[in-house]
Amino acid sequence: MILVTGGAGFIGSNFVLDWLACSDEPVLNVDKLTYAGNLANLAAVAQDPRHVFVQADICDQAAMQRLLAQHAPRAIVHFAAESHVDRSIHGPAAFIDTNVNGTFSLLEAVRTYHAGLSGTARDTFRFLHVSTDEVYGSLAAHEPPFTERSPYAPNSPYSASKAASDHLVRAYHHTYGLPTLTTSCSNNYGPFQFPEKLIPLVIANALDGKPLPLYGDGSNVRDWLYVGDHCAALRRILEAGRPGETYNIGGWNEKTNLDVVHTVCDILDAALPAPSSRRELVTFVADRPGHDRRYAIDARKIERELGWKPAESFDTGIRRTVQWYLDHQDWVADVRSGAYQHWVRQNYGARGAAGGAA
Ligand code: NAD
Ligand code: DAU
Repeated sequence: MILVTGGAGFIGSNFVLDWLACSDEPVLNVDKLTYAGNLANLAAVAQDPRHVFVQADICDQAAMQRLLAQHAPRAIVHFAAESHVDRSIHGPAAFIDTNVNGTFSLLEAVRTYHAGLSGTARDTFRFLHVSTDEVYGSLAAHEPPFTERSPYAPNSPYSASKAASDHLVRAYHHTYGLPTLTTSCSNNYGPFQFPEKLIPLVIANALDGKPLPLYGDGSNVRDWLYVGDHCAALRRILEAGRPGETYNIGGWNEKTNLDVVHTVCDILDAALPAPSSRRELVTFVADRPGHDRRYAIDARKIERELGWKPAESFDTGIRRTVQWYLDHQDWVADVRSGAYQHWVRQNYGARGAAGGAA
């Protein structure tokens, strides 16, 4: 079997569902179930004997060691992390705990486990560390996209914590010979994304007729990748990636935030006509401190070496995504109850025009 950490979150749950749809190999899904983890994402495999869920914290090294000894996975795909930049600005400690110390604890447990393997099991074992393009920092408009050789220059507590975890993974390969693979992916979107992130936040607010808060002037640029394409890239890297290597994963879809939000509004207006265009809900609000201007990914290495490229364009992926949220409004209502409201007040309450935005 394979072991997945963070498999109840956005990308992790998509990965688990896709994995079990493409393969017979069981998945041990280890997740702490923070605010971002949601077993409802995994309802489709709740009765599937190939899916084994264990609620555990990656910081708990003894628990990780026990799980490895008990289930003997042939590979680990490590998603578990605190993932939201704005939350890392309000409270960085959790990001250091999970992303840095948690990855360290997990690596220590895996090092011991790998040392105890022999023969083919040892040679074919893989530790796939899922990281982000944010570790490379911010690009000016004229600069070429990030390659795997771009220098690290993280600017937020989130990206700094992910960069630290990348360095630990690199060191465990070079020092202990752990067969690691690291990926740096651009902004994902798709089903099951928690509505603290731009696209699901905007879909949910637009449906409620609430303001659509855009930080700064709305012209920051992100490269958007449909989550199913990310999952396909990870499966391919696990299958054929070279240990010790980093692979950039991106969608070749650079968009300003304003363009993304306008596109979502137009799709919703066409699906559910409103008295006036939802574009009128756009509200410019105080910028994110340290807001990275632009991310762009050069994904030629993974295409050249492993033959992966995205199947979805932004146009097809965003339509599928908006439709998924229209079809799953119960899921959205569920995750927006309770603690989510506290987050909205904390993040948007002091941003002036967006007070009460979400
Ligand atoms: P998410 O916040 O939706 O999910 C994170 C999951 O990890 C949750 O299920 C949570 O319960 C779990 N978790 C958190 N702390 C844990 C701990 N200490 N022990 C065990 N489980 C824990 O995140 P996501 O957007 O799905 O991102 C997954 C990974 O992909 C992260 O490592 C992130 O840095 C990376 N990534 C995300 C994107 C993106 O656009 N979302 C892009 C590139 C890379
Ligand atoms: O690039 C990969 C990264 O993408 C991942 O590593 C992170 O885990 C993931 O959260 C994402 O980070 P971003 O900060 O780019 O995503 P977010 O959805 O928070 O914001 C996208 C852009 O939209 C960013 O420029 C900030 C802006 N934004 C965001 C929110 C939540 C707004 O303008 N208004 C908002 O309310």
